[in-house]
Amino acid sequence: MSEIVDLTVYGEEFTADPYPIYAKLREQGPVHRVRTVDNGELWLVVGHEAVRSALADPRFSKNWRILDPLTELNSISANMLEADPPHHTRLRKLVAREFTGRRVEALQPRIQQITDELLDAMLPLGRADLVDALAFPLPMTVICELLGVPSLDRDAFRHWSNVIVGQTGDEVEQAAVEAMGAYLVQLIEDKRCSAPADDLMSALLRARDEDGDQLSAEELVGMAFLLLVAGHETTVNLISNGVLALLRHPAQLAELRADPSLLDGAVEEMLRYDGPVETSTWRFTSEPVDIGGTVIPAGQPVLVALASADRDPARFEQPDTFDIHRSAQGHLAFGHGIHYCLGAPLARIEGRTAIRTLLDRCPELALDADPATLTWRPGMLIRGVHRLPVRY
Ligand code: HEM
Repeated sequence: MSEIVDLTVYGEEFTADPYPIYAKLREQGPVHRVRTVDNGELWLVVGHEAVRSALADPRFSKNWRILDPLTELNSISANMLEADPPHHTRLRKLVAREFTGRRVEALQPRIQQITDELLDAMLPLGRADLVDALAFPLPMTVICELLGVPSLDRDAFRHWSNVIVGQTGDEVEQAAVEAMGAYLVQLIEDKRCSAPADDLMSALLRARDEDGDQLSAEELVGMAFLLLVAGHETTVNLISNGVLALLRHPAQLAELRADPSLLDGAVEEMLRYDGPVETSTWRFTSEPVDIGGTVIPAGQPVLVALASADRDPARFEQPDTFDIHRSAQGHLAFGHGIHYCLGAPLARIEGRTAIRTLLDRCPELALDADPATLTWRPGMLIRGVHRLPVRY
């Protein structure tokens, strides 16, 4: 076994700005045994090439029972992001057609309308927390409407969701998992009893009713969990981290305002430079895996550092520079391989709409806090600020 790198010594510094630490690790090699604050010891893959190939390697399984055969799986873990083929293939196929580029393009007018309404409410205030006012409610409303659960208790859900993706691994997380599972069971039951509608959850319920073995009750809970949490926790940080990067680079902000054709490239650069997902979800080695001469034994927990891949100088020139003119193509912010983000086309439309409309309607947009006082979400999975105070 290789020596353990103790990431706990960096404390808050690692949460606020993990990039220099990833750079140091990357210089030393593509894989490291690390000790983390919340997740104990694990293997961390860094660097663009190693990350990309790990994400496409079936020896990195999603099966928790590789780690411990006695693991009791909870109801929310019956989802595609925690499944290997062929189970993964089956679950993904059931919803994939709802998230294609063409399908989500049709949602654009509604995404625009929600964005406009949120900004109508925000603008008279003169200053606001952009996370609360726009970045969170936009993707949340979109995914709730798409699923057909507009009455979701968002405050409760946001709390459980935040705790779960914070991955503290303690009793607080366990309680959130249980509360979330029970809430979703009830939500699905209510949906089943209500009139069939033209929404995704109704379609998934029908798929189950028409063909007994299509989606089990647990798989329905797992699917609802994954889609709602993905809606909660990711695009919010594309918008807030992206706007923060622009506000810290005023010349590029001015260029983007002057030339809207730069927008799509700018959003890709936001995903690359400070993407919402810092490391992948858990993977477990089903057999020993050699990465650049270091062997991860079988049965080990592995995280793949997307944030380190997208700042790798071997792949991107001057990777620590935010540059909306660069070609950020090939970034791994949406992952890679069979678990590549199903919601990427939707997230891109939401991100572009939110940022374009915000810039149009707030010509004087500025940060309303010293950047050094911003606080970052804990844990290694999600990267985003808690609040983004702005004035306009
Ligand atoms: C900017 C926003 C987003 C980012 C950066 C993002 C990122 C990711 C990443 C990195 C993965 C792969 C994780 C891994 O391999 O461990 C993933 C998977 C996934 N994402 Fe997203 N995501 C975003 C938005 C969304 C949205 C809006 C949805 C809503 C439908 C969504 C649904 C999913 C699903 C269902 C998976 C699992 C796919 C599978 O296992 O086959 N994502 N996402």
